[in-house]
Order: sequence, then C-alpha cells, then structure tokens
Amino acid sequence: MNIGAGLSPATLSALIALVRKHTGIAMNERKSVLLERRLRPRMQALEIASYQAYLDKVEHDRAEIPHFIDLVTTNDTLFFRTPQVWDYVEHEFLPAWWDTQRGRRLDIWSAAASSGEELYSMAMLCEEFQATHPGFSYRILASDISRQILAVARAGEYGGRSVERIHLSHPEWVRKYFKAGGKGLRVVDALKQHVELAQHNLLTPLKPHRQFDLVFLRNVLIYFDQEHQEAVLRLARHSMAPHARLILGESESIGGLNTAYRYERPMIYTI
Ligand SMILES: C[S@@+](CC[C@H](N)C(=O)[O-])C[C@H]1O[C@@H](n2cnc3c(N)ncnc32)[C@H](O)[C@@H]1O
Repeated sequence: MNIGAGLSPATLSALIALVRKHTGIAMNERKSVLLERRLRPRMQALEIASYQAYLDKVEHDRAEIPHFIDLVTTNDTLFFRTPQVWDYVEHEFLPAWWDTQRGRRLDIWSAAASSGEELYSMAMLCEEFQATHPGFSYRILASDISRQILAVARAGEYGGRSVERIHLSHPEWVRKYFKAGGKGLRVVDALKQHVELAQHNLLTPLKPHRQFDLVFLRNVLIYFDQEHQEAVLRLARHSMAPHARLILGESESIGGLNTAYRYERPMIYTI
C-alpha cells in the first residue's frame, strides 16, 4: 500500500499532542521524519493511506492506542548499562541495605524497564549477593508503558548488540544465568521467578500502592518536558521507602527541577 503525502503541519501537531496525552513524551516538529518512519509499517498493515486517517483511528478507536504507544516509545537499553551504577549497587547499596534491613525482602522497581535488560542485570546481582548472604531475598517489579516491549522482557530472549556486550563484560554470568535459545540467549527461570511485569504509565499512581527500596528510573525522564518530569518524580517518590535510593540515567540531572529528592552522588538520589 502506498502512503500518500508526508505529514502535514496540522496532522503532525495533532499527533504530537496525542503522543503527549497518552505517554507524556514531549516531541517537537523536528520529529516529523521519525514519526513518519515509525507509523508507516502500522498504517501499511492496516491499509491506511494517509497520516490524517491514522490520526482519526487513534482518536476514535481505543483499541489502537496501545499500538500507537508501542510505536512512539523508544526502547534502547543494555545489560549493565552505565557500569558505575552497577558497581554502586553491588558494592555499596546491597551491603548497606543488608546491614540495616536484613530480615526483610529487598523490593526493587525497574520503572521504565523496556525489554528487561536492566531488571535481569539487577536479578543477577541479587542472585550473586544471595549466594554469600543466606536469608537474602528480593523481588523486582518491572513496568513499562509499552505492552509490546514488556512481552520481550517477559520472554527474556536476547540477541544482537545486547548479547555481544554481556558476553564480553560478564562471561561467567552468561554461562550461569542464560541458556542458548530464542534469538541467542534466554534468561533462566531462576531469575524470572523473582520478577513481576506490569504495564504502567509513570504519569499515573502505581496501584496497588507499594514502597520500594530501590527504584530505577533511568533514561525515561529525558523524553518528558519539565512539567511531566516533576510529575513522574513526585509519583515515584510516593513509591519509595524512607531509606530508598532512586537511580536516574547518566544524562538525567534533576538539579533544576522542583522536587524533594536529595542528591547523594551522580545519578543517585534519596528522599
Ligand atoms: C530508553 S528506555 C530505558 C530503558 C532502561 N530503563 C534503561 O535505562 O536502559 C525508555 C522506556 O521508557 C518507556 N516509557 C516512555 N514513556 C513512559 C511512561 N509514560 N510510562 C512508563 N514508561 C514509559 C518506554 O516505553 C521505554 O521502554
């Protein structure tokens, strides 16, 4: 199917408004080519020939909204992304948590989990910690707004760049925590059994209300404008225990925002 003219300015601004309404993501007119590239395969599959007609469908057919969300979100991630964060979790956060909270379960939230590399990186660290700290237990809630990407996290099957990197950085853990399968490697059930996956929009309160010891909110604030960044941070704070840590992405600084977090070190905040 041939898709006629490109995005008109009016359709583009209506689509940008819909992206913001459904995901909080702030796009601007410079994203026109990106939006066209992302929407086109879906439009072809639905045999919709114009961007205006696809816009009408998203506006009037609720069943299309999850597909639209899948298309407009950016899901880049890696195992052990930003190694200094994982050094901090392994060598400082976990031992300190154990000293003060031993006897409780460690509750972790990977709040923009994407395809799951972040949550399984954390699960591997927890398994290793458990091996030397009998009685240690943990649970990870992994959420994302995109159902499609959560299905990838649920399958736990990885290939390509993601797997090349972990083969080099953690060869021993690849042997221990993965099996050959799927696209290349499949996470073993021993990790999956500690994980709960849920579709969740960070601009809404997490239900049921829970308090976590560690919250990963990495590489998602960059997609929001200041108003939505502050809203997401305010909501995340409600889900943190008094001693909890919030971990942000490498390029995400919240110094200029109106929030009640306290800076601890680069990327790490307390409430
Ligand atoms: C670039 S990935 C980050 C993955 C991982 N945290 C990391 O740092 O490698 C951003 C993720 O945020 C999700 N996302 C975007 N807007 C969201 C929202 N309003 N609520 C929840 N997740 C959202 C996207 O679907 C995407 O999977």
